Amino acid sequence: MQQSDARACFPGLRGADVLLDNAGGSQVPVDVADRVRSYFLDDYVQLGADYRTSRRAVATVDEARAFARQLCGAGPDDPVILGPSTSALCAALADAHARAPVDGRDEVVVCDAGHESNIGPWVRLADRGYRVRVWRADPATGDLSLADLDALLSERTRIVAVHHVSNILGRIEDVPAIVSRAHAVGARVVVDGVAFAPHQAVDRAGLDADFYVFSTYKVYGPHMAILCGSKAAFAGLVGANHYFVPESDVAYRFELGGVSHEGCAGLLGTRDYFARVADVAPADLDRAGVERAYRAFAAWEEGPMQSLVRALSARQDVRLIGPASADPSIRVPTVSFVVQGRSSREVVLACNERGFGIRYGHFYAHRLIEALELEPTDGVIRASLVHYTTQDEVEGLLATLDEVLGAG
Ligand SMILES: Cc1ncc(COP(=O)(O)O)c(C=O)c1O
Repeated sequence: MQQSDARACFPGLRGADVLLDNAGGSQVPVDVADRVRSYFLDDYVQLGADYRTSRRAVATVDEARAFARQLCGAGPDDPVILGPSTSALCAALADAHARAPVDGRDEVVVCDAGHESNIGPWVRLADRGYRVRVWRADPATGDLSLADLDALLSERTRIVAVHHVSNILGRIEDVPAIVSRAHAVGARVVVDGVAFAPHQAVDRAGLDADFYVFSTYKVYGPHMAILCGSKAAFAGLVGANHYFVPESDVAYRFELGGVSHEGCAGLLGTRDYFARVADVAPADLDRAGVERAYRAFAAWEEGPMQSLVRALSARQDVRLIGPASADPSIRVPTVSFVVQGRSSREVVLACNERGFGIRYGHFYAHRLIEALELEPTDGVIRASLVHYTTQDEVEGLLATLDEVLGAG
């Protein structure tokens, strides 16, 4: 499949704007809309009854769960929980920790370069007597030092909450090194993979991350999220669902009120799309097929990402917020910057008027923006590309920036 064939699957790309706000939320392939429509029109009944339509509805949710397992690289015994958002799932996970015995581990480490969804719920454990320790990013670059993390870890650490990729910096953090350090003191790691999952295959089990969470509405799917973890990490944690839901049904204990059935149908549309990119029938899409689709995504992302990062780095009036490298082992194409002497708002509005859908602000990474000594409301300008973003679109944005800012 060529990138142009992939683009043709996304009706939303035919709109008036060049959509470069994909880290906020991606477009969906037509398969997602088709699946949701036919679920609503043909199978919209409650689960768990014995009549045929209900059995079909159950099959939709079960198939969606099976795809979610492949998408997050779950191990065979891993509980995989579906939820409305990463924020909701992180809050549910922290709540379950708050209700579990402390067992001598009364410290949590949060990272101030992350999105608030995987910081705030852990910071609030302070109300339960936990000591909150902050892994601080370098104020000039946003870089994280593993030596700084080492200094925060001890046999009292229960949780290390980190991001795989910052939704501002775009940098891929060294999750294996973080996990091995945390595990060396017996702590568990919760990885926010929201900014990583649209670009590269999530591998919960391969990373040995105790918990891994991301949102499917950024991965060409419906507005849902997936939390996966090892069986050992979930042991002793009880989700907030009704008392008569067995604790052994870990996923359902965390899926308070159940999952979005039409969302599950939509997730199967995401599977259809991945299968198309991987060139297999949807029912045959396995983990190897998911990885093949991601390899195609990475190949299409590479050129546009290089052009954007290089051109912005070359401008004297631009400060790139994040790595100047366009190496896909170092960053994803979520690219943030500020312009000397210009407000982010002003620059973005000028680009918006010219048809480029970028935005500005703190993007809920409020603590990082403060740490970088930027003003949170104005924040940074962010252009975020995904696999369907073309070279022409990026060049159009760069030409528009030249027009708005003058030659750099
Ligand atoms: C890195 C990162 N983590 C977490 C979130 C929160 O995801 P959700 O909107 O599903 O709660 C976002 C949303 O933008 C994000 O970019």
